[in-house]
Amino acid sequence: MKKLYAVIGNPIGHSMSPIMHNDLFSFYQIDASYLPFQIKSEDLKDAVDGFKAIGIGGFNVTVPHKTAIIPLLDEVDELAASIGAVNTVVNENGRLKGYNTDGPGFLKGLQAFMSGAASKKILLIGAGGAARAIYFTLAMEKPDAIDIANRTVAKAQSLIDDCPYSVKSEACTLDEAGRKLGEYDLVVQTTSIGMAPKIADQPLDLSNIKKHSHVCDIIYNPLETKLLQDASNRGANVQNGIDMFVYQGALAFEKWTGIFPDVERMRENVLKQLGGLHVNR
Ligand code: ATR
Repeated sequence: MKKLYAVIGNPIGHSMSPIMHNDLFSFYQIDASYLPFQIKSEDLKDAVDGFKAIGIGGFNVTVPHKTAIIPLLDEVDELAASIGAVNTVVNENGRLKGYNTDGPGFLKGLQAFMSGAASKKILLIGAGGAARAIYFTLAMEKPDAIDIANRTVAKAQSLIDDCPYSVKSEACTLDEAGRKLGEYDLVVQTTSIGMAPKIADQPLDLSNIKKHSHVCDIIYNPLETKLLQDASNRGANVQNGIDMFVYQGALAFEKWTGIFPDVERMRENVLKQLGGLHVNR
């Protein structure tokens, strides 16, 4: 019987996950469909119960349900529980188990470009939900340090205080981070600054950037943010948010099917969709 997979969020119409996963199901000849469902917060429990009742194979969870879903699941894995957010649910013999593939997806994307985070001095920009998943995941990779720069420094400090994995970290303002930018091997931008339509914005001044450092922006619309253009002009290696998106999806697909999918195929598919979006705007 055809299996159902899904993504739930509100809004959900923009999600590229259905096209990405349906293409993979057909490519690997798996009899399954992946559908988007717009679910209001007050309906979340009913939606989860309904999914369980129909024997769903698994589903992704996006804004605003990543944290609220946790008490509705039968089990949550350790990393997702410490991050406090679930983006992937797997139906394991009738029990719904939550995982977080956002942080690990970011790390896998990073490793496809460079040796990873071990022994690196890292600057994380932002202290929201995405920063939290990335910070906790990178903290386990034994980096030299991960400093967090945020408009609201107290939020960066709470993120540091919350992290269960031991890592050297300081919280600072965006201006302070700009002044000491020469110290960092890797800069990871996780805020919405520079996202379409406000593409002229940039979170910090890059005058002091270390040559040949690596700069990641988790934004993929536009494909090259002002920050990445600036970093590239100054001799840094740059990486946009497509990799994190594709690898979080690949890790979810692997949890559901046991197959780690062809990420190049996924990347091409996503880029094709984004290209369409740009043309249509
Ligand atoms: P997400 O879950 O996508 O990470 P979020 O939890 O709303 O989103 O977090 C947004 C992040 O972007 C925060 O670090 C936020 O800074 P504050 O903690 O000070 O609010 C940052 N951010 C968003 N817009 C910003 C802006 N215009 N200037 C500076 N930082 C901004």
